[in-house]
Amino acid sequence: MNTEARPVLLFAYFRPDAQAWLDALAPAREFAEIRCWPEAGDPAEVDYVVAWQPPAGFLGGLPNLKAIFWIGAGVDRLLEDPALPDVPIARMKDDSLSLGMAEFVAERALHYHRLMPQYADQQRRREWRPLSPPLARERQVGVMGLGEIGQACARALAGLGFAVRGWSRTGREVPGVDVRTGDLGDFLAGCEIIACVLPLTPQTRGILNRDAFARLDGAWLINVGRGGHLVEADLIPALDAGRLAGATLDVFETEPLPPDHPFWTDPRIVVTPHASAVTHPASAAGHILANLRRAEAGEPLDGLVNRARGY
Ligand code: NDP
Ligand code: OXD
Repeated sequence: MNTEARPVLLFAYFRPDAQAWLDALAPAREFAEIRCWPEAGDPAEVDYVVAWQPPAGFLGGLPNLKAIFWIGAGVDRLLEDPALPDVPIARMKDDSLSLGMAEFVAERALHYHRLMPQYADQQRRREWRPLSPPLARERQVGVMGLGEIGQACARALAGLGFAVRGWSRTGREVPGVDVRTGDLGDFLAGCEIIACVLPLTPQTRGILNRDAFARLDGAWLINVGRGGHLVEADLIPALDAGRLAGATLDVFETEPLPPDHPFWTDPRIVVTPHASAVTHPASAAGHILANLRRAEAGEPLDGLVNRARGY
């Protein structure tokens, strides 16, 4: 146990680009000792950990941990760790994530709304034919998940003039958005563009499946939640059947997407490498520093994860 006055914060970032995070977290040195894995010292001295993608069991090796500050928004992989210590977990909340994701989803929605895939086809045929998309307000867009990031996406889409419908568990209100709860099929019916911004939980795993696609008619799918939301085997049949017109997938069951995966080469599918929202250390470290102060003051953490709910 760390009996010194200064708490020990371990930075455990299992990715190569750690320096920008360490620079951004430097203000914490005023009141905490920062250690950087693998130079963790005595694991029993660690009070807090800032973590991203640690191997299963790693956090269980810190016996006196008081809280986990998670660098990502989605905690599905973290919660799967059987050795996860029973301490508060704060997920990341930051504009670089939520506004970045809103840009990505808005760009994809405009791309589909303004019929860019059709123009790409025409260009390949050297065909000069103006098309006439409906007005944005006549285009029904559905956003699955209205959390920190989902709400930012829904607001951006509403700001572009789309008719936006949002789906969440409890139906929290979002101005300008028709918020629905309950039956997913009812929510999807009539949507022409669907963005999935859900967390991956036992309830949402496999939610983008054949039954859901059966409620759509030539819709475009944007999946930026987690790969586990999509039943991958159901996607190409839904495209072939015309239930879906196209899909943009940023997340996959196996990442990186294996080189022989059929999604790479299907012209109706756009693949991006889990890059729809990127956490920028200089912006996001502020959330961690504020939470560290809260924890030391005995206050509740911002972005506290509810383990029973799974997000
Ligand atoms: P939040 O935890 O803030 O919100 C989750 C939302 O999903 C809430 O609106 C919640 O409903 C809703 N929800 C959860 N379970 C259900 C359910 N069973 N049925 C209906 N609605 C449900 O998440 P964020 O918006 O911050 O992020 C969402 C996800 O985006 C992350 O968990 C992560 O997986 C993914 N992500 C992907 C990134 C990428 O680069 N591709 C980057 C960052 C995040 P309620 O409001 O009622 O609680
Ligand atoms: C996240 C992610 O959860 O990058 O933040 O996917």
